[in-house]
Amino acid sequence: MNRKEFLLSMMALGGTALASSANISRWDEVADRMIAEGIEDSRKGRRKIDPTKAVLMSDIHICGELVDGVSKHYPYNPTSLKLRIAEILSMRRLPAHVLVFGDVAWDYGLEEDYRYAFQLLQELTEAGIRVTLALGNHDRRAPFLSVFPEYAKTSPVEGRVVSIVEMPHVDIVLLDSLAELPDLKLRQSTTVSGEINQAQIDWLQEFLKGRTRPVILGAHHPLVEMKNLEGAIANAPSVVGYVFGHTHLWDKSVRIIRPRKGIHMVPTVGLPATFYGDIGFAVLRSTPEAATIEYSSKGFWWPQPMDNPPQAWISRAEDLSHEECKFLLNIPNP
Ligand SMILES: [Fe+2]
Repeated sequence: MNRKEFLLSMMALGGTALASSANISRWDEVADRMIAEGIEDSRKGRRKIDPTKAVLMSDIHICGELVDGVSKHYPYNPTSLKLRIAEILSMRRLPAHVLVFGDVAWDYGLEEDYRYAFQLLQELTEAGIRVTLALGNHDRRAPFLSVFPEYAKTSPVEGRVVSIVEMPHVDIVLLDSLAELPDLKLRQSTTVSGEINQAQIDWLQEFLKGRTRPVILGAHHPLVEMKNLEGAIANAPSVVGYVFGHTHLWDKSVRIIRPRKGIHMVPTVGLPATFYGDIGFAVLRSTPEAATIEYSSKGFWWPQPMDNPPQAWISRAEDLSHEECKFLLNIPNP
């Protein structure tokens, strides 16, 4: 993203002005029109679906408690998501997939949050893009599944929301790292850190056994937080990378895991959010040799946009304007 786009994005979602529902409605109208044009284009075949392309998003934090049609908490979040959706729909080649790496809901995973998220994301599915959601620490399984019941049928692990997204050169497995405390009351926070339960570990180890097709693993939480997951993939060369959300920051790194023989280097990348932190999404494009994940930055704000953002915010966005990482898909024989 260039400086002009960044400032435009800031203006579109400007701090004090954002408090006004009239302003939000105005930008909602702009986003709605852009979305409608994108859907119309895709229906008329002007935009083709690219099966090798996926958009990776995270932490959309949608509040479905509406007052006069506007979210009660952080009302620019849905607008920010709408602008990102409009951007996706305006791509010359549409992605086959949009993946959301958790924290779909605003704070406590209310059913109305998921209903509103469903409504917003529907623009993508109507354009022929497959949307797959994962759960984060601000999500709750029961309300999520009441709005998205198909996940209970497709998840290979009972009681957890796990998805396998098949692409031409690589499969992406989205794990469920939500540590949901038992007997949570409405609007009660759960554990912030991530957890992969034993049932998922058992399933994953079976899934990866002798596998020669590359796999990108993903979950809401960073790999470094989940030692049992690291252990499960230590001797699995088919795992070529790991993608996560949670920190709301673009975070390219590598984990060195030591199996009995040699080392396993797993490149990892943390995704931006659609609010609070690095703003935007990443675009994954694959070839038989590699999956390249490019950050499409729309700015930085914390915790909310400002009319006159500090230089540090602008600088952060400019620094990340050409960020990408690469997961090699040529894997050694297991
Ligand atoms: Fe989050």
